[in-house]
Amino acid sequence: MDIERALREVAVLVARGGEPGEVFDALSEQAAKVCGVGAGAVVRFTGRAAELVGRWGDLARETLPPGMSFALDGGGALTLVRETGLPARFDDYAVAVGAMGVTLRPTGLRASAAAPVTVEGSVWGALIVSAFDSETLPVDTEERLTEFTELAAVAVAGADAHERLLESRARLVKTADDERRRLERNLHDGAQQRLVSARLALRMLRKQFDDPAPVDAILDELGKAHEELRELARGLHPAALSRGLGAAIGALATRSSVPVEYDVVDERFPEELEIAVYYVASEALTNAAKHAEASVVSVTVLVIDGALVLEVADDGRGGAVAGGGSGLIGLSDRVEALRGRLRVTSPVGVGTTVRAEFPLP
Ligand SMILES: Nc1ncnc2c1ncn2[C@@H]1O[C@H](COP(=O)(O)OP(=O)(O)O)[C@@H](O)[C@H]1O
Ligand SMILES: [Mg+2]
Repeated sequence: MDIERALREVAVLVARGGEPGEVFDALSEQAAKVCGVGAGAVVRFTGRAAELVGRWGDLARETLPPGMSFALDGGGALTLVRETGLPARFDDYAVAVGAMGVTLRPTGLRASAAAPVTVEGSVWGALIVSAFDSETLPVDTEERLTEFTELAAVAVAGADAHERLLESRARLVKTADDERRRLERNLHDGAQQRLVSARLALRMLRKQFDDPAPVDAILDELGKAHEELRELARGLHPAALSRGLGAAIGALATRSSVPVEYDVVDERFPEELEIAVYYVASEALTNAAKHAEASVVSVTVLVIDGALVLEVADDGRGGAVAGGGSGLIGLSDRVEALRGRLRVTSPVGVGTTVRAEFPLP
């Protein structure tokens, strides 16, 4: 098989940010085919062992399940790569000792060549191709492997960077949430309490006036200020969430100017998930009231195939675009930080559906 084409196929997967396992399987397959042998694998070195993170080959598939670990004690190609950081080959498993020989002898694999996958200057793992009894490993096998191992390193670094990006987004969302909670507490313990005391004091004072009308006007203003503060605090951190998503969405429904029908699973989830579902529902309901001219909105929160799924659908004018305002775009950060997905479908004249899906731990 043409090496350029094989490399290109894997490179496309890497560039697309495919799952590392998928990339490693493809790498194993293409590298084995380029060398004209029946099996290939990518391993990751962990301490004194190698963990199989990608593989190809019909026979090897049955004997070497993904995720399997084996000790590196037999002096085979992988052991050599691990010890020297250089490509290596091993020509006869029939004489191999240790766990490696025991694992591989029954598979009919006879010889292997392996090359290191180096990430940030250290040996992360290796790509190995293996020949069955009837096959021979070409003399330049190790050289052919080198370009594949560079792709493997890019895939590893990419997956790592992606993971770090997700973690940093999650940290940002958490910091913002902690800050909101702190503000909510300060409002509640500080400004709101003071307003309550001021209103009480003024009510006492009111009795001393012949004409209390001006005092009533002030009391009225103070009352409104108190109500606005309470609204603000509620938006900062939804107190109803402490009683679960059903209660919190119920509270949103009660305050909505458009009728809301809702069906919420009666289960508790990790706090950050519940907060995310709440904010998405809250924004989608606000949008439905503000932009949609809808007659009814439905909210469902269900567990489907191991994912927590929120759907908010209205029967309004449609035509919503994420990025058209500040609301929907801000939510996707929150959802994606939890490895979820946010989708808005909004055909004109039919209505808008906002769907958020979160994988459950
Ligand atoms: N349910 C909806 N029905 C119709 N239009 C919507 C709906 N939701 C959002 N939109 C449109 O999409 C835009 C983007 O929404 P959003 O990001 O929430 O911004 P905004 O801050 O304006 O609410 C809105 O400005 C509005 O024009
Ligand atoms: Mg909005």
